[in-house]
Amino acid sequence: MPHTAHPQATDAPLILIGGGGHTRVLIDVLQGLNAAIEGIVTQEEALVGKSVLGVPVIAVEKDFAGDPKRVLLVSAVGNRARGNGSGLRVREAIHTRYMQLGYRFASVISPHAIVSRHVQLSEGVQILHGAILQTDVKLGVHAIMNTGAVAEHDCTIGAYAHVAPAAVLCGGVTIGKYVHVGANATVVQQLTVGDNAVIGAGVRVARNVAPGEVVAR
Ligand SMILES: CC(C)(COP(=O)(O)OP(=O)(O)OC[C@H]1O[C@@H](n2cnc3c(N)ncnc32)[C@H](O)[C@@H]1OP(=O)(O)O)[C@@H](O)C(=O)NCCC(=O)NCCS
Repeated sequence: MPHTAHPQATDAPLILIGGGGHTRVLIDVLQGLNAAIEGIVTQEEALVGKSVLGVPVIAVEKDFAGDPKRVLLVSAVGNRARGNGSGLRVREAIHTRYMQLGYRFASVISPHAIVSRHVQLSEGVQILHGAILQTDVKLGVHAIMNTGAVAEHDCTIGAYAHVAPAAVLCGGVTIGKYVHVGANATVVQQLTVGDNAVIGAGVRVARNVAPGEVVAR
């Protein structure tokens, strides 16, 4: 596993911000790491008092008053991407809001991911089951390498970007901030995908993609 100065999921009790499908996927990874998950903070009032995969939903966000010195947070809101953009700025808003309150975010790295010793990981990254990060990959803050996603050697993936399940970035690809690379998409080597772009599920990208562009076929 690569050396990283950033907090890891097993360093302190965790509070997850979310409540939906991505939260459940993360809980499963965290349970495999034997992490101490204290609870979920959500935006959905109806969830409070219930539990998700055995983890209690403890508060709505506006009522949450934790101790930033005692717990670490996990940003557990996912992203499906529609033609009007990727929605990944929600993850940035969560990061910014809680950082200003003094919280740190844990990285979540599945024990079933393959991560080169020679990668650069930033705070709050999520690398899920079966993902592969080859040598000299750089992953920006809060970026997600989802289940089975592959980043080959020398890829750079921007802050808050989401590489969806089974997507493949060939060698030397640069992915901007807030980019969604759709499930099972392929980006051919050495190409650049600009900030805020959306690559549709299953799409093969063989040219550079402009910032904000949606590539659906
Ligand atoms: C590309 C995408 C962003 C477009 O979203 P949208 O604008 O809401 O698009 P719609 O679903 O309304 O589809 C618009 C048209 O594009 C086509 N289309 C959409 N996505 C496509 C894709 N990935 N490949 C080929 N065609 C696609 C649709 O069939 C439809 O065609 P039509 O106009 O002939 O009926 C979205 O379809 C997509 O692929 N999102 C990524 C999903 C993903 O990776 N999820 C992983 C979650 S972990």
